[in-house]
Amino acid sequence: MVETVANPYLDGNFAPIREEIIADTLQVIGELPQDLSGMFVRNGPNPQWPPIDQYHWFDGDGMLHGARINNGKAIYRNNYVQTRRWKTEYEAGKAIGSGLLEPQMDNQGISKNTANTALVWHGGQMLALWEGGAPHAIKVPELETISKYTYDGKLVSAFTAHPKIDPVTGEMMFFGYSFMPPYLQYSIVSAAGELLRTVPIELPTAVMMHDFAITENYTIFMDLPLSFRPERIQRGEPMLMFESDRSSRFGIIPRYGDNSNIRWFDSPPCYVFHTLNAYEQGDEVVLIACRMSSTSVLQSNSNADIPYLYQWRFNLKTGLVREEMLDDMPVEFPRINENLLGRETRYGYVGKMANSSLPLFEGLVKHDFSTGNSQIHDFGQGRYGGEAVFVPRPNAINEDDGWLITFVYDEGSKASELVVVDAQKLTHEPVARVLIPQRVPYGFHGTWVSEEQINRSVGV
Ligand SMILES: [Fe+2]
Repeated sequence: MVETVANPYLDGNFAPIREEIIADTLQVIGELPQDLSGMFVRNGPNPQWPPIDQYHWFDGDGMLHGARINNGKAIYRNNYVQTRRWKTEYEAGKAIGSGLLEPQMDNQGISKNTANTALVWHGGQMLALWEGGAPHAIKVPELETISKYTYDGKLVSAFTAHPKIDPVTGEMMFFGYSFMPPYLQYSIVSAAGELLRTVPIELPTAVMMHDFAITENYTIFMDLPLSFRPERIQRGEPMLMFESDRSSRFGIIPRYGDNSNIRWFDSPPCYVFHTLNAYEQGDEVVLIACRMSSTSVLQSNSNADIPYLYQWRFNLKTGLVREEMLDDMPVEFPRINENLLGRETRYGYVGKMANSSLPLFEGLVKHDFSTGNSQIHDFGQGRYGGEAVFVPRPNAINEDDGWLITFVYDEGSKASELVVVDAQKLTHEPVARVLIPQRVPYGFHGTWVSEEQINRSVGV
């Protein structure tokens, strides 16, 4: 008998689900706060059909899981993002396109845009995001796919899964990276949703760039040594590899600047999937992010690349960089109160990684940067969550007055819940646990859309 090694990302609660459902009158343990009104939506990979080649966790078709919360009640629904690839494979009744690990097999002309990574609400519109292509507009609260979204044809690059919205001006900054020059393009969308400008930023080589950061006046790009070099394929190596002999470069550019006024700062090699925030302080730009000393992103099941919260201080006067570890606890999926994005925050929220070769999150950590202390919310034995989105309480005065929301899966009972934790009482039991009548697979990023935003949505 041939021994088969199961792919852990197609197993357990990483395995896809098949049903798209709507469920109302959900059972709530505890109480959903009356002033928590809106919709939590989370994106993640959910392959529609069994993969035809080696499966990577990043390959699955995007599926949205939403919880509409109003008057202490919750309605759950889940829908695929209906991308071109999804529709083609739906009609074919099988997988056609290949994945990241064997991209040379993709000769069917099928767009690989899975739209599976993240969500953003901007300009009265929800967008499902994937860093290799254009966003998809999503109808809220229905979670139906409207269409690919190209800003009236002005979008000329891919679109990061992590755009940044300035909470004061409402502008949205995003970038797109590419294997071909220009390797990086930087764009700004007005608060009303008009793509205002796109400028190329020069890089020495193509790199995988997952996230970036903004401050009140600057945008920060991370040219980290996870490079794409097509010539590696001839040598039988993966095209994407971490180069441990190359520096990390952080580029700081005025928000409306271009390649001529970017300033680059070198620091030891590392990889960063996600930034927590950045801000200005005197002559310095401060960046906080989850840093790994290396990464083997496409070689699955490596647990060598453990992320820790780090801070970089870039001095714009002296050109010096100071890099400092903030905590020795493995953490990822950083979030803040986004009403303060680009400004100094007192708090940061991160997922606490379990001691596992899989990306399992056993709790939430609230960092207090003013004291250096942190508090932990433990999901409980055999229970794992994901990224927690911070939802500010309406009219809150204190930065941490709000809730942290995430889906949690119980490996014992094999059931999923939406968990709502009071961010000011982090170590307490959740204020509400909403029982979801089907399994919600582990996924990537979510967002919160307030009642006011839903009511003012452009509603295409
Ligand atoms: Fe991400």
